[in-house]
Parts: sequence; C-alpha cells; structure tokens
Amino acid sequence: MLNLEKILTHYDPVTGELPGAIMVKRHLSDLRGCFADTPAYDAALAAGNPLLYTVAAVEPAVDEGDLHYGVGMLMPGKIGDEYFMTKGHLHSWRPAAEFYFGLTGEGLMLFEDEATGESRIVPLRPNGVVYVPGHTAHRTMNVGETPLTYLGVYPARAGHDYSTIAKKNFRFVVVERNGQPAMIGRK
Ligand SMILES: [Fe+2]
Repeated sequence: MLNLEKILTHYDPVTGELPGAIMVKRHLSDLRGCFADTPAYDAALAAGNPLLYTVAAVEPAVDEGDLHYGVGMLMPGKIGDEYFMTKGHLHSWRPAAEFYFGLTGEGLMLFEDEATGESRIVPLRPNGVVYVPGHTAHRTMNVGETPLTYLGVYPARAGHDYSTIAKKNFRFVVVERNGQPAMIGRK
C-alpha cells in the first residue's frame, strides 16, 4: 500500500508532535518509584505535577515485518540530583531491538542487560543513532537545559513491558556530579 499518508509523516522536532499519532503524556505523578530520592520526589510533587515527557507513536495493525515508530519529548529538570527520565521498559518480545535517533537537546540512555545486569549510559544527541539491543531495558534522561526530542523505531511486534521495571527498578541511577552526569549504584 503506497498511500502517501501512510508512508510519509512530518514530525515536529520541538514539540514532539506527530500528525495522526496519539500522544501519551506522563506527569511527575506517573513516575512514582522511579526516582531514587523519595523526599525530593514528594517535595517536587507537592509543589506541582509537571509534565515530564510525551510519546507520540504510530502503531498500525501488526503485520509480520512491520515497523512502528514514535517521537518522544522529555523536559529538562531534576528530582534532587537525578535527571528527568522516562519510566523505561523492556520489549514484551524480548529479542526486539530498536533504533533511537536524537533530534534536539542533550540526552542519555541507560541500558541494562536483563540477563547479566550489565549497565551503561549512552549519549543521545542530534545526528546520533543509538542501537538498543534486544533483551535490554532502556530508559531516557534529559541531561541538558532544553527539551530533548528523539525518534524511536522498533519492530511492530516488540510491545512494551513497563511492569518489570516498575517492580524492580534499574540497578543504576544517573545523577549530576560536579556538573556532569554520573552513573552510580542504586542504594
Ligand atoms: Fe523501546
């Protein structure tokens, strides 16, 4: 099917909007348990419930071989020393890999191999392509001063498993130390 509406979309690299896509909005209250510094989280929530990020995804009916994609927009900010982040997820179909393309802003991705726990942070910046291997939990952080936007492309059958991370958070947190991001063990 070579219908132009289906094969060409223009995203907005600043707002993260994608025509025809449903935009999911995540506020601070949606990320309870994600941030390590609970008193800082509670204080920030009491002061307001800011929008942390949006995801606009194009996920039509699955056919074998299809790809899905989405644009994410993550606001700058911190809870305590920890950067604003996404919930993070594994793919329901664990072998599914993904490409992230940095569009605007300065981000990091936190990877954690589900089997070994091996973890690392990877820069997510404009003109950068990040390959997320299968079987790897991934979370995005904004470590800059402006909104971070990025495009993710993944197999249509990948699916999103948020519950595994919700039950057992990432082993590492990414915090600002001396003005730089640093990955440290969760206490
Ligand atoms: Fe993903």
